[in-house]
Amino acid sequence: MATQEHNIGMVGLGVMGRNVLLNMLDHGYSTAGLDTDAAKVKAFVDESKGQKAGATTDPKAFVAMLRKPRAIMLLVPAGAPVDAVIRELLPLLVPGDLLIDAGNSHFTDTDLRYKALAGKGIHFFGMGVSGGESGARYGPSLMPGGPKDAYERVQPILEAIAAKVDGEPCVTYLGPGSAGHYVKMVHNGIEYGLMQLISETYDVMKRGMGLSNEELADVYDGWNQGALSGFLIEITSQIFRRKDDQTGKPLVDLILDVARQKGTGQWTSQDALELKVPTPTIDIAVAMRDLSGRETVRQEAYKLLEGPEPMGDLSRDAVKQVQNAFHAATIISYAQGMAQLQAASTAYSYNLNMEAIARIWRGGCIIRAALLEDIRSAYESNPELPDLTVDPQVARRLNTLQADLRAIVRTGVESGIPVAGHMACLTYFDAYRSGWMPFNLIQAQRDFFGAHTYERRDQEGIFHTQWSEK
Ligand code: 6PG
Repeated sequence: MATQEHNIGMVGLGVMGRNVLLNMLDHGYSTAGLDTDAAKVKAFVDESKGQKAGATTDPKAFVAMLRKPRAIMLLVPAGAPVDAVIRELLPLLVPGDLLIDAGNSHFTDTDLRYKALAGKGIHFFGMGVSGGESGARYGPSLMPGGPKDAYERVQPILEAIAAKVDGEPCVTYLGPGSAGHYVKMVHNGIEYGLMQLISETYDVMKRGMGLSNEELADVYDGWNQGALSGFLIEITSQIFRRKDDQTGKPLVDLILDVARQKGTGQWTSQDALELKVPTPTIDIAVAMRDLSGRETVRQEAYKLLEGPEPMGDLSRDAVKQVQNAFHAATIISYAQGMAQLQAASTAYSYNLNMEAIARIWRGGCIIRAALLEDIRSAYESNPELPDLTVDPQVARRLNTLQADLRAIVRTGVESGIPVAGHMACLTYFDAYRSGWMPFNLIQAQRDFFGAHTYERRDQEGIFHTQWSEK
């Protein structure tokens, strides 16, 4: 194997790492791979035969293959494996080399690694990669953050392999430190919210209206032709058409109704709580996945608890209402994620460009959707927009859709179908628009039992009242 010949290295030749390398090779970059698993190394070597690629299980040989200053991407599971790889590579690297952690690492880990490596002269990047296997192979959305000058070194490679929308690559430098991993985390939080909302539209149309899988596939296909078009809607339509290879039955009906998770949605909610940003749709999406996994309680409750039963007899004319409700809820879900990013930008000094984030999410990633162009243009008009819902055009659109969002929430309540994601979105919308909220009472209660004081509408200052005699 020739030495110092390859443009970029990859640690981790699993599904994502291998496909990113093949993508780089397609764009003329020579690549080297490292994996402890000899079978994965062989698979990559076979797949890249005849191209400018090499792979090995030996870290020393791997590092020797790379051009200096070296650029090495890591696509290994988040957590301890990332630290293990860094520990192993570190003695082989020299100041000026660049490590790019492209997994779903927690942003606080990225901050620690960034600082630890900066002290040794090694540049460290946290980069979100979205788009799954086919995104990695043919064009992901990339969310890099870290030292800017180091980004510029790999910028041509990242721009070459990223998805393109109107000729623009779905990658941009996002900010210092853990900015990239933070943006990817919130991307996943939004992903959780959207998946929750889609599953609720499925429930309303299946159990509420009695639509078959074929009919559902057609409905989602129709949505994908218009303003709601996007990756998650597109794959949902395909899922409803898919038959099981073994039984010939619709595959979706054979899948256990328990949603698993790797944790990025939960992290998003956790940090939103830290930042005091309301993200009720993401929170409830995580909670509903958790609830789906509590099978023992679900079985008991199924037998014991009473309420209306969906009868499949709701009018199918309401499919349009479901579509409009989902449309409104989708906008409100993005709004929550964007608001969280804005708060994080200040709190963590990321200096995020909201327009650029919406721009690089238009292609390649899991939450890519036509709506992101409208979101991008809202932030282009007003980079300081405090919440997407108060962009004049977005507000006009929500105003025309809100009645249907309300109707679907009502339908869910009346027919016993949990539509928690839609409810959370409607609550976000109604709470912001209500002008007055009942929190004067909460302040009074806090002051009553804990002398926590309150402010008044009619006077400046901080007040306390002796509410009871005792
Ligand atoms: C992406 C996905 C990707 C992964 C999620 C799934 O952007 O390509 O978000 O990162 O599929 O980690 O997350 P859960 O396992 O938590 O649902």
